Amino acid sequence: MPSVALTSVFLLSALLLESTTANDLRPISGTFEVNGNIKEKDGVDYYNTTNIHVHLNIADGCYFMSNIFDDPFLTRTTIEIFNINSKLLTSVVTPVFEELTKLGIRNIMESLTNALSYEEMFPLINSLPVLP
Ligand SMILES: *[C@@H]1O[C@H](CO)[C@@H](O)[C@H](O)[C@H]1NC(C)=O
Repeated sequence: MPSVALTSVFLLSALLLESTTANDLRPISGTFEVNGNIKEKDGVDYYNTTNIHVHLNIADGCYFMSNIFDDPFLTRTTIEIFNINSKLLTSVVTPVFEELTKLGIRNIMESLTNALSYEEMFPLINSLPVLP
């Protein structure tokens, strides 16, 4: 197989909803970058996802839990501590959300690229004239 010089990058920005209080929903902004090349199977080109980068901007969060401990006082105190330090906690959990988002995108990309050829996925790109 010839080495593939193509790397596609698409940047999407998404609006997810972040709940800060029960009545106040604020958007989370994020950037997702998906890199890949082309792999060939039985003479058909398929997109081959290589790297996925996810960056989420989550300013703050509000944390709820129930019955994490048998002791209701301990549960309440823990939730209070989390919420007093919610900005710090959010900065700690954001990378976890980013990793989970990456896994989710990888799964979606794999189901798509296993089912559709490159031409079926990107008909518009393929119809563009190739620059010299
Ligand atoms: C997909 O891309 C990776 C990274 O370039 C490469 O190692 C792998 O062999 C490719 N897969 C196929 C099936 O071409």
